[in-house]
Amino acid sequence: SRKYRPFPPIDLPDRQWPSRRITTPPRWLSTDLRDGNQAIVDPMDAVKKNRFFDLLVEIGVKEIEVGFPSAGTTEFDFIQGLVRSGRIPEDVTVQVLTQSREDLIRTSFASLEGARSAIVHLYNAVSPAWRDIVFGMSREQVRQIAIDGARIMREEAEARSGTDWNFQYSPETFSTAELDFSIEVCASVMEVLKPTSEKPIILNLPATVEAATPNIYADQIEYFCRNLPDRDAAVVSLHTHNDRGTGVAAAELGLMAGADRIEGCLFGNGERTGNCCLVTVALNMYTQGIDPGLNFSDIDRVIEIVEYCNQLPVHQRHPYGGELVYTAFSGSHQDAIKKGFAARERQNDDAWRIPYLPIDPADLGRTYEAVIRVNSQSGKGGFAWVLEQDQGLKLPKRMQADFSRQVQALADQAGRELNAADIWDVFRRTYYVQT
Ligand code: KIV
Ligand code: ZN
Repeated sequence: SRKYRPFPPIDLPDRQWPSRRITTPPRWLSTDLRDGNQAIVDPMDAVKKNRFFDLLVEIGVKEIEVGFPSAGTTEFDFIQGLVRSGRIPEDVTVQVLTQSREDLIRTSFASLEGARSAIVHLYNAVSPAWRDIVFGMSREQVRQIAIDGARIMREEAEARSGTDWNFQYSPETFSTAELDFSIEVCASVMEVLKPTSEKPIILNLPATVEAATPNIYADQIEYFCRNLPDRDAAVVSLHTHNDRGTGVAAAELGLMAGADRIEGCLFGNGERTGNCCLVTVALNMYTQGIDPGLNFSDIDRVIEIVEYCNQLPVHQRHPYGGELVYTAFSGSHQDAIKKGFAARERQNDDAWRIPYLPIDPADLGRTYEAVIRVNSQSGKGGFAWVLEQDQGLKLPKRMQADFSRQVQALADQAGRELNAADIWDVFRRTYYVQT
């Protein structure tokens, strides 16, 4: 896949800026089948979950949270079925979520019986609001819950050979908890599970409800990374939600603050306003010249499957994927884009420098034909462009103004967007072309 230089080229006067950039892709975990699925009106059945799972594999996601097996037999049976189906490729690891209760943890391990490798994801909430209001527990009691859960995890993993067991712990509500307390709880879990740099634990730090500007979350991640004892034995993972509309920004800043991994969903599905959108983060990297390791070269197919599985539309203005994001309605934009394509042809330039288009739509399987649509707001450059693309007819500059008036008259009269056939029709009627 092509990798473009940053668009527009970022040229800052002081070479010390920007202070940080993302230079390598993170590890990606999709929680579409868990956080995403628990947030949709009609949760996916096994057929849809398998379809979604296969799609994630095709895209190149290597860690996939497949459910909450202790939630009920449907979840448990799906996970067991998936493990036994043989559809999990060698390089893909499935993950399951569990609360920190002995029976639930044991059920979660049982659901993965026969897996080649797996991540068991333990969580409990640590912030003051949850401690006081939800559980009525002290800090010490909350820390103990995490330790007890970790002990059962270790016991289960030791008793069940044949699977490469990996552990993940989430101090749920991390972003609204006391940082030193979160670190203390994570360090206690590490003492039980004894991770090493060869076999690290994943510490996943959720902004369960996004509650501050993204730089604050990033500062929390940086502080955590600096102060966690034995940082080398941990993979620091981000799990952002989008309550303030900044889930992607928080994840990006979190990476720059030292994290290694991102959890999220395709097109930002997930609880309430959703999880961090993995598509956006990945393609933001792509447009900065970094190969994200995820393949969205046929983004329409991805959207089709995601919409079918979630029964939720991807917004027409969704970054990179939305139906309208490679269209230009205004004449000045259309003209600039046209000039950009012409310059590109002349210079055969590999850098992407088309005005108003942050990425080459072709890289996502979109066609140039879809780039310009025409309505009464379009200018003469746009009409001429459509005629040229559709009919191979290059309109002399002198004719463009007159032709544009004719097309605009039709657009006003029709009160709708015009297509290439309409424009050709106007041309034929106006200039009496014999066909
Ligand atoms: O948002 C959250 O805190 C979660 C945890 C269970 C990881 O989804
Ligand atoms: Zn979540």
